Amino acid sequence: MSQVKLIVMKNGPLRVSDPDGEIELVGSDGEPITPSRPTLFSICRCGASVDKPFCDGAHSRLGFDKAAEAVPESRE
Ligand code: FES
Repeated sequence: MSQVKLIVMKNGPLRVSDPDGEIELVGSDGEPITPSRPTLFSICRCGASVDKPFCDGAHSRLGFDKAAEAVPESRE
């Protein structure tokens, strides 16, 4: 069994690397969603894709600006 990775891309999508293509992607209606390339695909994080839930590159045109790293909450 290979390792599934979820990679947060800087200013871009969530990239899913699943060498065996075993991850199950399911919509809010419970219906399965099949990526065109099950071993490597990207989930839109900017909200502008016309191919949701997948990234179609619209984040580049939009100038989507989000760090890949988690930002800790301030503790006051
Ligand atoms: S993150 Fe790529 S289109 Fe939204």
